[in-house]
Parts: sequence; C-alpha cells; structure tokens
Amino acid sequence: MNTCLSITCIALLFCVPLETQQPLVNQSLAPHATQSINIGISHTNRKQVAQLLNSLLSDEFILYTQTLNYHWNVIDPYFSAMHSFFKEQYEQLFNFVDRIAERVRALDEFAAGSFAEFESLSALKTPSQGRLSTQDMLRNLLDNHESIIRTIRVAVETTQNDFKDAGTSNFLAEILVEHEKMAWMIRSSLTTK
Ligand SMILES: [Fe+2]
Repeated sequence: MNTCLSITCIALLFCVPLETQQPLVNQSLAPHATQSINIGISHTNRKQVAQLLNSLLSDEFILYTQTLNYHWNVIDPYFSAMHSFFKEQYEQLFNFVDRIAERVRALDEFAAGSFAEFESLSALKTPSQGRLSTQDMLRNLLDNHESIIRTIRVAVETTQNDFKDAGTSNFLAEILVEHEKMAWMIRSSLTTK
C-alpha cells in the first residue's frame, strides 16, 4: 500500500461523524441503565439492610474523622507513639467505611456520602471541640467504639433473622471482631483513675 493511500485512510477515519462511531463505553453500563437485581433477598429487606448499613457507615465516618483529628492534634510526651497509634486506627476505620459503603452498593442501594447525611444518620455524639488530654481522647474513642460494637452486635442478629441476609450478617460479624480488637488496644492504653 502506498503512503498516500495510508494517509487518506487515516484522514477518513477522523472524518467519520461521531454518531456513526462505536461508543467507547457499552451503553448498557451507563448509570441510568439499571439492571434489576435478583439475589434472593426481598426488595423490602434489601432496603432495610441498606438503611441499617448506611447508619453504621455514618457512625464509622464520624469515628474516622474523630480519630484523624486526634492524630493531628495530640500533644503528649510520647507524641510519636500516639500520633502513629491514631494513624493505624484511622486507617483501619477508613477501611471499614469503604467496605460498608461497597456492601450497600452490592445490595443495589446507594451509600450515604456527604457530611450532612453522615451527621443525620449517625447515632454517635459529634466529637468535642477544644484541646483534650491524650487520656480524654482515648476515652472518647473507646466510648464510640463500644457504642458501634453494641450496634453491630444487634445488627448481626437482625440481618440474619429478620432480613434473611446471611451475607451482610457474616460481613458485620467480621467488622465486629476487628472493632473489638481496636477497642482492646485503646482500653489498654488508658490509665485507670
Ligand atoms: Fe498524618
């Protein structure tokens, strides 16, 4: 093939009107084209489980923000150790946030994703403002971890028995165990009064 012909072919390719070209993304994957879900959980139960998960997601996001705040603002003779401890904790909490949001999507519902939603759906107290001692920070975190642990313990039962969603129930049981370990680490860093 001569060079002139090749150049002509390339030129023609770029001249093809956009509407006649193949779409880069399969139209069936466009956000407005929803594929119905059929995973053996009733529509009502799926909605209820997603609601429960979105409340938990909001609790986790509040606790994540609170731990991040303490990572930044802690002042302590053992600053480096505490700064790193809070970092490990907020990283793990972010992992929970992401997993819970994705579980909501796996149930074909939408995850809460704004501060306004997190604040309105969370049962946790808003983190207190102002300068705190390390011990007060740890105590606040422990209170919120334990509150979340109690919430999840009930949710493990509810999702299994009331909403017939063994997948979410098992998923929550895993998160519960990880929270209990985090709470143990915080508890062990607290001095008794
Ligand atoms: Fe940092």
